[in-house]
Amino acid sequence: MRIIIEDNYEALSKKAALMVAGQILLKPNTVLGLATGSTPILMYRELVRMHKEEDLDFSEVITFNLDEYVGLDRNDKNSYYYYMFENFFNHVNIKMENIFIPNGMADNLEEECKRYERLIEEKGGIDLQILGIGKNGHIGFNEPDLKFEATTHVVKLDDETIKANSRFFNRIDEVPRFAISMGIKTIMHSRKIILLSNGEEKAEAVYKAIYGPIVPNHPASVLQLHPDVTFILDRNAAKYLS
Ligand code: PGA
Repeated sequence: MRIIIEDNYEALSKKAALMVAGQILLKPNTVLGLATGSTPILMYRELVRMHKEEDLDFSEVITFNLDEYVGLDRNDKNSYYYYMFENFFNHVNIKMENIFIPNGMADNLEEECKRYERLIEEKGGIDLQILGIGKNGHIGFNEPDLKFEATTHVVKLDDETIKANSRFFNRIDEVPRFAISMGIKTIMHSRKIILLSNGEEKAEAVYKAIYGPIVPNHPASVLQLHPDVTFILDRNAAKYLS
């Protein structure tokens, strides 16, 4: 495990974007695993800048998003589909057919999970997975649990996650209660993982992920077992690391 500590959110976002760009330069048809939420927004902005100003080419890049809410239409401003196009895909030269996001509106959600897992395999697996981390230690929407869920699955969101994510919605009761998420095995099969975290409110979750016991009650702790994981943190998120 590598830990990179940057002075602030802007610097960590630039570092993450550089690592993604390096990966794409080395392997133009890279399969990226992508995250949503507040944390990666500046990283996406920097990648867009690199595309526009430095010709970073996404024409062969394939992407799989980590998760999606159940029951939100693609046009819903809170869907992760909408987020990804708004913050990233609309501004780079990625091909529509290379973009994969779980369909939270599928009639048969179990089938959708299986289809998604199959697609990741068909495309050769994820080369580089970007992760955020929840205050409760979740990665993707893998919430604290008694066991690790292996593959893409339907999740019931934690009250803490619903509360945290309600900041994007008008009212807390508008936050979906369920989501589709890649599982821990799906994430752990990625060849490389980069976890980004900033802000003091994540410091404890980050500390437990790196130094805590490897337990499904703190899902990010499983990353200690991955052979190529890099945490990129700002000083606040790294507060408890010596
Ligand atoms: P955030 O979410 O980036 O909005 O803090 C991260 C997460 O919950 O995984």
